[in-house]
Amino acid sequence: MAGKHIVVVGSSNMDLVAKAPRIPVIGETLTGTDFFMVPGGKGANQAVAAAKLGADVILVAKLGNDLFASKSLENFKSVNINTTHIEQLDGVPSGIAIIAIDDNGQNSIIVVPGANGKLTPADIDKAQSDIKSAAVVIAQLEIPIETVERAAKIANENNVPFILDPAPAKPLSDKLLSMVDIIKPNETEAKILTDIEVIDQPSAEKAANALLAKGVKTVIITLGEKGLLLATKDGAKFIEAIAVQAVDSTAAGDAFTGALATAIAQGKTITDAVELAKAVAAFSVTKTGAQTSMPTLKELNEFLEK
Ligand code: RIB
Repeated sequence: MAGKHIVVVGSSNMDLVAKAPRIPVIGETLTGTDFFMVPGGKGANQAVAAAKLGADVILVAKLGNDLFASKSLENFKSVNINTTHIEQLDGVPSGIAIIAIDDNGQNSIIVVPGANGKLTPADIDKAQSDIKSAAVVIAQLEIPIETVERAAKIANENNVPFILDPAPAKPLSDKLLSMVDIIKPNETEAKILTDIEVIDQPSAEKAANALLAKGVKTVIITLGEKGLLLATKDGAKFIEAIAVQAVDSTAAGDAFTGALATAIAQGKTITDAVELAKAVAAFSVTKTGAQTSMPTLKELNEFLEK
């Protein structure tokens, strides 16, 4: 990618995953069928997705000084992610996620931020020269919002496209939204951002228009297996999803964002970038785990040929 790297500002977790026939209800103890521990976290997942597709990726993140951190770092190095801006803190645990997956591949997640909550605007300032020279900057919301705002501001001031994956969703300031080039909420996140119930194409268009009105340049609202809406001020179009047998939907959104950023960094059009992103997301749903479910280009092509 000739010097044009992607900067991912975000969380890194260790995912503790249990599989069970269904997600337990409150107060219920359920016997599970499988357990595994895999590196996750929305920021790290997106970084790995992009790196496995061949992008040069710099991850800006915070970890504890524990076994989970060592495992995550090992994994980043195995896919050539630049870890210069990953700091390890003593006395703070690495972020973790407790994930339950049911027989339909659906999940429920509890995230405990740990060190992710200590990623500050000052950390972004330390990575400033890499942000200024990046092809794209990506962030999500598992880190403090002021840190996301700082990354958006530096990207904006230097004409570097800023992609926000607003997960886990929370209402965002007009100031932040005005600095976002591409936002990619799913239907639940779109509702939290706009207060508009998103269930189909017309309601997705309404929510997208509300975000465009705040100054976001491109809105992508994903609706799971139904497909996605791609909207800019020039109009909106609905794009079908690729039908797959879901094994584990964890990190499908991260797969999408990592691939989208990769394609944008390579100078692809937004439509081509979305096509790549939806294929990578579909692939990830057919595999178990977060970072373990991201494909290389070769694996993706084999999957698409089937
Ligand atoms: O988006 C999936 C991710 O959400 C998981 O890897 C988990 O760590 C949580 O951050």
